[in-house]
Amino acid sequence: MQIEWLTGALLGPEVRRSQKTLGDLAGIFADRVAWEKMPAPQVVYRVEWWSPSAENTEGGLSWGTTTIEPGLVGSEYFMTHGHIHAKADRTEFYGGIQGEGALILMDESRRTWTEPMFPGSLHHIPPRTAHRVANTSNVPLRFTACWPSDAGHNYEIVRQQGFSSRLFRKDGKPVLVAAAQ
Ligand SMILES: [Fe+2]
Repeated sequence: MQIEWLTGALLGPEVRRSQKTLGDLAGIFADRVAWEKMPAPQVVYRVEWWSPSAENTEGGLSWGTTTIEPGLVGSEYFMTHGHIHAKADRTEFYGGIQGEGALILMDESRRTWTEPMFPGSLHHIPPRTAHRVANTSNVPLRFTACWPSDAGHNYEIVRQQGFSSRLFRKDGKPVLVAAAQ
């Protein structure tokens, strides 16, 4: 296995890859009208990862790199779907590689905050904290991640309840805005 540190790209036969398009992210962005006018096959982000241990292996670790394209749906930045870990006490590291963005975090009381992501930023995602990443720059945002093999991904909580705040571009800058309920 190899990692190209300048981009986070993973190289090797065990690398797995997936991508999410605008069509895959139905209901995730606030401005549904703007979303419907955009091409469904347009890629929002790609993930490549290495899981040497099978999923759900206690004590195992996975490593991945995510690339989020620059873009907006209405005035909301392109972002990942977001999840909380199925085993809610599991934590995770993220590290910024290229571009600028924001790690959006929400705790169990639905308090949402952000941490700026940039080349060299390092982030610890606490237990029981939902997380997603938005690209606030004009270039692809690349970040690397390391998580426990048995963390699991609960996407349902985001689909059903969303985050309590969203990151919009206002006057060219990212602003966290309380979501309409
Ligand atoms: Fe995670």
